[in-house]
Amino acid sequence: MPLSRRLALIGLLILVCLLGIRFLGPTHPRTAPPAPLTEGALGKLAFHDPGLSASGKQSCASCHAETAGHAAPNTLAVQPGGADLLNQGLRASQPLRYIATNTAFQFDAEGKASGGFFWDGRADSLAEQAASPLLGAREMANPDKASVVGKIATAAWAADFKAVYGKDILSDTDRAFDKLTQALQAFQRDDIAFNGFSSKYDSVLAGKAELSAQEARGLALFNDSTKGNCAACHPSEKSADGKPPLFTDFSYDNLGVPRNPEIAANHDPTYFDLGLCARPDLKAREDLCGAFRVPSLRNVTLRQVYFHNGRYRSLKEALNFYVQRDTHPERWYPRKADGSVNKFDDLPAKWHANVNRKEVPYDRQPGQSPGLDEREIDDLIAFLATLEDGWDAR
Ligand code: HEC
Ligand code: HEC
Repeated sequence: MPLSRRLALIGLLILVCLLGIRFLGPTHPRTAPPAPLTEGALGKLAFHDPGLSASGKQSCASCHAETAGHAAPNTLAVQPGGADLLNQGLRASQPLRYIATNTAFQFDAEGKASGGFFWDGRADSLAEQAASPLLGAREMANPDKASVVGKIATAAWAADFKAVYGKDILSDTDRAFDKLTQALQAFQRDDIAFNGFSSKYDSVLAGKAELSAQEARGLALFNDSTKGNCAACHPSEKSADGKPPLFTDFSYDNLGVPRNPEIAANHDPTYFDLGLCARPDLKAREDLCGAFRVPSLRNVTLRQVYFHNGRYRSLKEALNFYVQRDTHPERWYPRKADGSVNKFDDLPAKWHANVNRKEVPYDRQPGQSPGLDEREIDDLIAFLATLEDGWDAR
């Protein structure tokens, strides 16, 4: 066959194939619309969208980054926010892992406070919580709900939002705003990124891995009520119904953490962050002044600042503070004009009695040795590193 006829034949063949694809291919192309996203998947898009902030530059993830255990991904004690990102926050960004297992704030039968979202438990649910950063002047700084809903309307996921909540949803401002907070709640509640239970310690509890000798010493110190006594507030064992430990009992305590001069509000000597009793509804409970919620220690090694005011940047410092606070207060607190140590300098003197001084490891007296030495603290830190998620995928 001459070359020209061969080429013509090949051309004809290609044409037939193309026509076949066009007419015989997928018979009903794109007639069924894609299934709407789940609420959680929608919440994930919103959580990562800086377009929801007045600055256009800050999303929830800016202060709660997956790489940092969903706490802040930098070493700033507190994060900047506001329309120009110049409005400094007052407290350290909290880690969001496992937080969906928390409950609303309550006093138990013995009058002990527990639960609630934020360092002072003032929000009753994750959805209620989410309204705060969206509208907070030190965070995403939207002036009102309508401006948030306006931003949903122009988001890349606006059509998904309508597919999930109804095509007219954006014309009802209050409802649309509530649905956004519910989507954010669903993301934090349902997504595996927040609820992995994938640490080495989880594998140990499941009988699939073993702690190293140093990690095992650290765990023993953690649980020993005469040494670390950490488990008293940061439980390390499965609950009675077999649920994995969260390393917080969501209770409140007052540790007397030193004042942090890096927080601009603290330059005013009359300003104090009083924790629980700063809530309007708990103003009368002066015994709760200075108390903050016990944080989970899962993924604590991924965080870059510690305590409610981000006072310390390393676990070593944070734990040395625990055990030396009463034996060597001069290492942790500034001095007053008369040269004496200004112990518990972040709390007005009338509430110093609220600081926990009875329980191990805070039961020491000046002149005694710290309850844990440097080596024991290293062991504890080695154990705490086993609480980092993602180990079982390594
Ligand atoms: C500018 C930084 C910043 C941004 C942006 C931000 N947060 Fe936060 N977040 C914080 C700080 C600080 C706290 C603790 C505040 C307090 O206790 O008063 C916190 C606390 C929380 C808590 C409570 C956790 C707990 O342990 O109780 C949740 C949940 C949360 N944020 C979710 C979100 C969501 C959802 C968004 C986006 C809508 C968001 N955050 C945006 C800084 C931020
Ligand atoms: C009596 C209760 C109690 C005991 C015992 C206790 N903690 Fe805590 N822990 C807290 C509270 C409350 C906070 C938050 C205090 C604050 O920010 O003002 C905290 C905070 C922490 C933090 C900072 C975490 C963060 O994300 O900011 C670490 C780390 C920590 N504890 C580790 C330990 C270790 C290790 C032990 C044992 C040596 C221990 N804790 C014993 C109540 C306790």
